Amino acid sequence: MFASHRRAFLDHMEDGDLALFQGAHLMVRNHDVDFPFRQQSEFWYLTGCNEPEAALILAKGIEDMPSEILFVLPRDPERETWVGRRLGPEGAMEKLGFVSARNHEEFSEVAGAALAKAKRVWARLGDHEELDGFLLRSLAELRKKGRMGISPPSSILDPGPVLDDLRLHKSATELEHMRRAAAVSAEAHLLAMALCQPGTMEYELEAVLHYTFRRHGCNDAGWAYPSIVASGANACILHYTENNQKCSDGELVLIDAGGEYQHYAADITRCFPVNGKFLPAQRRVYEWVLKAQEAAVDTVRAGNPFHQTHEVATRILCEGLLDLGVLQGSVDEVMSAQSFKRYTIHNTSHWLGLDVHDCGAYYQQMESRALEPGMVLTVEPGLYFAPDDTSVPEEFRGIGIRIEDDVVVTGGHPEVLTAATPKSVEAIEDACAQSAPALPCLDSLEVAS
Ligand code: GLY
Ligand code: MN
Ligand code: MN
Repeated sequence: MFASHRRAFLDHMEDGDLALFQGAHLMVRNHDVDFPFRQQSEFWYLTGCNEPEAALILAKGIEDMPSEILFVLPRDPERETWVGRRLGPEGAMEKLGFVSARNHEEFSEVAGAALAKAKRVWARLGDHEELDGFLLRSLAELRKKGRMGISPPSSILDPGPVLDDLRLHKSATELEHMRRAAAVSAEAHLLAMALCQPGTMEYELEAVLHYTFRRHGCNDAGWAYPSIVASGANACILHYTENNQKCSDGELVLIDAGGEYQHYAADITRCFPVNGKFLPAQRRVYEWVLKAQEAAVDTVRAGNPFHQTHEVATRILCEGLLDLGVLQGSVDEVMSAQSFKRYTIHNTSHWLGLDVHDCGAYYQQMESRALEPGMVLTVEPGLYFAPDDTSVPEEFRGIGIRIEDDVVVTGGHPEVLTAATPKSVEAIEDACAQSAPALPCLDSLEVAS
């Protein structure tokens, strides 16, 4: 998979082109403890290398330069005893299938020599201070060597547009990883629904989500983004991640959580009642969001513009806001006054892939981009009524609902990767009524509250 990604990028390069990529560094958390390492997505896409401090050179038609060289930390028995195994250059060629791999300390020398022969260089300036500095210094040095017949590359090209577009169109293998991420995440949401009861702490639910992600082999910490477990009015904070409150009888819980499998994200939101039964006011709001979400999912078809999900969902949410008595007037009046935005707040969709908010252009020639098979996007409308918002009938205050699925554009009907997560009122109440499996715990301590 990774070699084919490199080949696809090389196909966009011309003879005399050089491309430089830098992987993620370790980041210090405190003293001699680092944050958990997560490879930079673009670097992962091109290499499948999950080690820090790595770099990649791709070259086309440059004398004495192989088409690809991966630079990795060298083998070091002492460091490996302390902080973990390394591939080393030999291992990188053998296990990752690189034509050539070298010690990362040789990057400057090899890249510097190649720059002296390259006509153009591809580098994403502004992302890696170290790479930017190296490139600018090298170009300045080469400019001084005109009398030796050496000149710097004539242009610096941003690999972003090419790579972002390659990443936007998922291969069969990438879609398999995304199906797995979605299936694991669906199981996590089901488990949270079955376990929750009045008195459960938000972080207990977070723990079972993360337990499920890791149990099924999701990478690194397991999650694709910090999980949102928002009971009651916390659901009106879009990216609430404190997850430290008690879930109370009569409240809903909004969970926005997804695992990351082989570095591919799932992104699911569901809302369910703490005690297993929607109250009438909660149900009314929920059903409007559900109606908007289902109609929007149905528009995820090849040829439709990306923004159609938002347009379709927004119109239905406006009907809902009128029906609930939150807004007055006609749908067209509400739409043109944009008064709905106070309650819908965010857009309906984003690309999904190696990053939860994945790369890829949303517009082409100033028009919303047409969907193509292999693209994956979320569909996630919501309604949020802040607890202190007196413009909202009292019975709805403090209710926040978002429903989010991950959808693949196909040649026909949309493929909903997250379809195994209950969504109708009946399916959710049924999932909440399931007897919770015994958790692996000793119960020698009270859960802190
Ligand atoms: N989980 C972040 C989002 O839905 O965009
Ligand atoms: Mn999302
Ligand atoms: Mn989400």
